[in-house]
Amino acid sequence: MNAPAVILDCDPGHDDFFAILLAQRFTELRGITTVVGNTSIQNATRNACIAADVCGFTGPIVAGSAWPLVGQPHYAEHIHGASGLDGPALPEIIRPATEGDAASFLLAEAGPDTWIVATGPLTNLALAMRSDPGLAGRVAGISIMGGSTSFGNVTPAAEFNIWHDPEAASIVFSSGAAIRMLGLNVTHTVLVDRGYTDRLAALGSSAGSFSSQLLGAYLNSYDRISGKPGSAPLHDPCALLAVSHPDLFGFVAAHVDVELDGELTRGMTVVDQRELADLESPNAQVAVTADGPQVLGLLYETIGAL
Ligand code: BDR
Ligand code: CA
Repeated sequence: MNAPAVILDCDPGHDDFFAILLAQRFTELRGITTVVGNTSIQNATRNACIAADVCGFTGPIVAGSAWPLVGQPHYAEHIHGASGLDGPALPEIIRPATEGDAASFLLAEAGPDTWIVATGPLTNLALAMRSDPGLAGRVAGISIMGGSTSFGNVTPAAEFNIWHDPEAASIVFSSGAAIRMLGLNVTHTVLVDRGYTDRLAALGSSAGSFSSQLLGAYLNSYDRISGKPGSAPLHDPCALLAVSHPDLFGFVAAHVDVELDGELTRGMTVVDQRELADLESPNAQVAVTADGPQVLGLLYETIGAL
């Protein structure tokens, strides 16, 4: 089977970094766009350039929105640090980002054979759809790391990417696009630990060492904030592999709405899992299972090949 064509819209971010490496190995990566979320747009774009240098991606990297549609940015420094990629000393970038803006790039480059994989807030995609709603029907699909069928991580109800720009997420989920949703309910079953970082370090390569240091810092963050220290969920690779290796995930078709107003629930993905005959039509394939060992194995293989 041919590798799927992908544009990766991301906010690197440790787990976004690994999604970029996987995209370069397992897809025909047409471009990387960046969005504010885990860190500033400047940091996210620089970090995407670093990932591209590490994995040998030479295509376009285009910066996108520096602000959510409504309100102010809230960086996830408690997980990713001030740089967005805290841990190893960050190298100077070899190849800078391409001129342009992400929403225009998505509109110009995403065609019927293209998957958009979104591993950050959905601001760029929403801006593109606002200026041309036809985008939703023109792409093969959109694979989103975001939301949850159950618990949140920023609030009890809301996951970070959706919480950071709920208005944008609402536009995307109601767009009519073919959506795959990889939420916390599955990404929290794909766990890295210090045995995994040791194995990466033992590869003896600079990519192995850099990746091991990144994941070590990511584990330290999760140790600080998590009720279950010693492991950390590898969120964003799931959205990428849901396109290149969909058999690793189990999906159910469901209607997903984004809560915009709730005092306790703003940014929640409300996934209708009722077993009733008369429900709103599904607008997403929602992941409910993931093969964690296979996901981690593919990432190890990917880093090992660099
Ligand atoms: C999501 O938020 C970010 O911190 C991660 O990169 C991931 O995309 C998980 O909630
Ligand atoms: Ca991310």
